[in-house]
Amino acid sequence: MKNQKRSTFSGSLGFILSAASSAIGLGNIWRFPYLAAKYGGGIFLLIYVILVVTFGYSLMLTENALGRKTQSGPLEAFSKLNKKWLPLGIISFVIPVIILAYYNIIGGWVVRYAVGYIAGDNTAMAEDGYFSNMLSNTPSLILFQTIFTIMTSFIVFKGVEKGIERFSKILMPMLFILAIIISVYSITLPGAMEGVKYFFVPDFGRFSLQGVLAAMGQMFYSLSLAMGIMITYGSYIPKNSDLEKNVSRIEIFDTAIAVLAGLMIIPAVFAFSGGDESALSAGPGLMFITLPKVFASMGGSRLIGLLFFILVLFAALTSSISIMETIVATLCDKLHWSRPKASIVTAVFDFLLGIPAVLGYSVLSGVKIFNFNILDFMDFITNSVLMPIAALFTCIFVGYVIGVKVIKDEVLLSGEFKREKIYTFMIKYAAPIFTVAILVSSVLDSLGIIKM
Ligand code: ALA
Repeated sequence: MKNQKRSTFSGSLGFILSAASSAIGLGNIWRFPYLAAKYGGGIFLLIYVILVVTFGYSLMLTENALGRKTQSGPLEAFSKLNKKWLPLGIISFVIPVIILAYYNIIGGWVVRYAVGYIAGDNTAMAEDGYFSNMLSNTPSLILFQTIFTIMTSFIVFKGVEKGIERFSKILMPMLFILAIIISVYSITLPGAMEGVKYFFVPDFGRFSLQGVLAAMGQMFYSLSLAMGIMITYGSYIPKNSDLEKNVSRIEIFDTAIAVLAGLMIIPAVFAFSGGDESALSAGPGLMFITLPKVFASMGGSRLIGLLFFILVLFAALTSSISIMETIVATLCDKLHWSRPKASIVTAVFDFLLGIPAVLGYSVLSGVKIFNFNILDFMDFITNSVLMPIAALFTCIFVGYVIGVKVIKDEVLLSGEFKREKIYTFMIKYAAPIFTVAILVSSVLDSLGIIKM
């Protein structure tokens, strides 16, 4: 790899689509609706959007600029600018390694559902108990985890322009159209309007610190921040591509899909449960439990269910390839491995790392770490602990070690920096204070020392 030319995107459009496809994934369609349902609907959405346009914007711009400036992935981007900061690179490299392990498993659930629709199991899939039965069937979970892992690895194997970019250009528009059709159907179900109200109108009585923490973790996850991805993709952005504009567009696409996913799922939960609080806090199973019921009530459910899960699968794939690409690119840069070798090692390692999480639904179901099962713990440790730590130190690094000017100069190379004032304020003051507060309360809460 030493003498190979670094891959690049073909231009701004190629980058925006690829970065948006990395951002748009299970985070938007699977994770966002169940968190919004659980943490008060409108109030969660409001907090989330505020975080995206302030903190999310600042961090994405920083990561893209760092990657483009240093022409490196997360492991080396910081240490190239200041040697002492290698540990932050190491954390930023470990995060995608953990995420990929459980992303492959949930991607496998999506493949399982798509196959279920192909096989004509649409009625059975709409019944209670289908999802939990699937989770306890270990051989089948491992099979589908394997299939998803192979799909991801194949595209990463082929590289940035041929694999990632081409794939994203076709699938993202299709996902938008289908999401709009299903949302329109969902909000017209009898009783669904209450759900639309719940999702859009903030009820300040439902405000909770835990909700803020969840919204922040979700923002990192959904925008692919603090996981090294946007640094890696930043290193592929051409020097003449306008960084600030790119970031705004990615945020708009990503948030639009999250809102559409909320509209597909939350009104349907109200329609099928009458707004029952326990249905709203169903957690990670929400998409897999509620949507098959919506499809069953639509008529033609086999085709619509199949289309939907295929598109979720594509969204999940475009994200998992960005997570894997981050790891593979780093291995190629650092160890001078070939792309095929790095892809195979990463695929096997992350597959094995995911196995305990799969078993956490069957033989290891008694294993609880701070009350989480193994998969939920992997999600918690990355999204609520390691990613806020990486984000915090990235802000300190830029704000106080290399100085905001380094980022500013990189942004100005290719366009304007209209939000410079808010950027500087976020990076130097607001984001660090906010991250520390949230991080400390989240850890104390999970250790049972305080109750949020
Ligand atoms: N940003 C990716 C997602 O939302 C990881 O799934």
